[in-house]
Amino acid sequence: MNVQPLSTAMGVEVSGIDANSLDEAGFNRLRDVFHDNIVCVIRDQSLTPRQQVEFSRRFGELETHISPVYQMKDVPEVMILSNEVVDGKLVGNPDAGSDWHSDQSYTDRPCAYTILQSVRVPEEGGQTAWTNMVTAYETLDAETKQQISGLVGVHNFSRHKNPRMVPLARLSKDYYEKYSPPDAFHPLVRTHPFTGRKALYLSPRSTIGIKDMDDAIAQPLLDRLFAHIDNVELVYRHQWRAGDLVMWDNRTSNHIALGGVKEPEIRRIHRTTVAGEIPF
Ligand SMILES: [Fe+2]
Repeated sequence: MNVQPLSTAMGVEVSGIDANSLDEAGFNRLRDVFHDNIVCVIRDQSLTPRQQVEFSRRFGELETHISPVYQMKDVPEVMILSNEVVDGKLVGNPDAGSDWHSDQSYTDRPCAYTILQSVRVPEEGGQTAWTNMVTAYETLDAETKQQISGLVGVHNFSRHKNPRMVPLARLSKDYYEKYSPPDAFHPLVRTHPFTGRKALYLSPRSTIGIKDMDDAIAQPLLDRLFAHIDNVELVYRHQWRAGDLVMWDNRTSNHIALGGVKEPEIRRIHRTTVAGEIPF
């Protein structure tokens, strides 16, 4: 197993392994490297959707998305991300993750890991970026660390409840009412269950307030924290290649899909998510 850093912010590229046939020692080593580096890219893989499900299950129980709209029919644990249209219908989610977020933070037990296998990669666009929320926490000034210690963020899926988000034209208010769980409450600073490291846990996409704090105080504090994480020094930006198997730890990162795929080019990615613990 060869491990190379991807950037000064975070992330490693792992080569010399086949994710489909890792023995237990190899898998445990991979998981440790992954936890330490937050984002892990394994090049030149070709997992089928079922193989991706089997690989993902080694990290824990799998989840299916709260919305069934873009699930793969015969493998519901796989969600399709794609701009492809077949018979007038999108085959996948065309604009998943277009704002900084941590996956499923709007549920009581957010997913720990997201695993993506690229299938079709456009010539241009379709990049993904991550921001290192461990470094984001560590680089806060002492006063802010003190101020947010013990505070609990309020998370919600609906763009209509989030003053920082613009509702998407293709998704109605009814869609969010149908699929949005009630508000979820998570500490603004969470501890990683394997490494013990602390990370900021909040995002402009899903964190809509602070529990038991008036918005007059909470919203400017959130604005300040969102500005702090929007820092290029914390970011790794990934240019996809076909056969990339990319996984990230949602406890210690935010991510964003940067879009920019030009028709008629097609991007297609298969996504699985692994259940996590209740954040602490
Ligand atoms: Fe996401």
